Amino acid sequence: MSDIRFDGRVAIVTGAGGGLGRCHALELARRGAKLVINDLGASMDGTGGNSAAAEAVVKEIEALGGEAIANGSSVADEKGVQKMIDDTMSKFGRIDILIANAGILRDKSFSKMTQADIDLVIDVHLRGSFMPIHAAWNIMKEQNYGRLVVTTSSTGLYGNFGQANYGAAKLGVVGMMNTLKIEGAKNNIKINAVCPIAATRMTEGLMPQAVLDQLKPEYVTPGVMNLVKDDAPSGLILSAGAGAFSMARIVETEGAFVGHGDALTAEAVAAKWDQITDTSKTRPAFQSGAEHGQNIFALVAAGTTA
Ligand code: NAI
Repeated sequence: MSDIRFDGRVAIVTGAGGGLGRCHALELARRGAKLVINDLGASMDGTGGNSAAAEAVVKEIEALGGEAIANGSSVADEKGVQKMIDDTMSKFGRIDILIANAGILRDKSFSKMTQADIDLVIDVHLRGSFMPIHAAWNIMKEQNYGRLVVTTSSTGLYGNFGQANYGAAKLGVVGMMNTLKIEGAKNNIKINAVCPIAATRMTEGLMPQAVLDQLKPEYVTPGVMNLVKDDAPSGLILSAGAGAFSMARIVETEGAFVGHGDALTAEAVAAKWDQITDTSKTRPAFQSGAEHGQNIFALVAAGTTA
């Protein structure tokens, strides 16, 4: 197996002042990339901020013999994001890799969640992934090269009490990925999602210490390196934690054609409910919305000819 190297590559990692982002950035630097370390230096609920965290990681990279610049913009601030992209281009002249990792939490049960809790979390996670990727997109297209990672969460994929705002934003980035994998294909732009679990300040106190000890953020990063390498896949969701990795997919059951016209009633759907929801028969994941549509018509054709 050949070494995974990023020599000559320029990478931006958002929220790289600590936690998972810092680990991703350090590993990219160890493997030859030049880095832009973005971090607002915010507290976990998104308040406050200074660029000290980003600058400290730049120093760590320099100590490794690498090259990096710090950026203290909020990923949720359009002008700040554009400045980050402009500064990267004037310093390094290209953008090969962008890992959208910055994040905050505003956990509350839904009845207690305020509009501000919803807006801020969507701003940082969803708009904060969208805007940097959007600002880098045409540069990657012109280069005919781009490797993008969005950071999703088991909350987005499966749910978690008190995290409706976070879960919506985290599945939102997967929706963006699903389309960008299609739009980027002809320009060698690949995009994937990581679904991490790691002991960072985000998970402090949520699990016993013995469990947290196994969840080093460094144990997620080797998976992420595989999402941004030259021969990376595209459109894949990689679950990663404690040194274990798996692939998450949205799949559909085989389903059933119920009928047309007078035969298609709510009761007729209810009568076939067991077949419609039979998870013992699932289809391979669709690669596009178009494939999903074709499948619907295949079901109809099979049903009408049966
Ligand atoms: P962390 O809190 O250690 O790191 C997040 C970083 O993002 C912080 O350094 C923070 O200053 C920065 N940040 C926050 N708002 C920002 C903004 N507006 N602009 C720029 N930087 C900003 O948390 P952790 O655990 O390293 O999280 C990294 C990503 O992984 C997040 O997107 C999080 O939602 C996701 N994640 C983490 C999991 C875990 O188990 N730790 C589980 C699932 C997802």
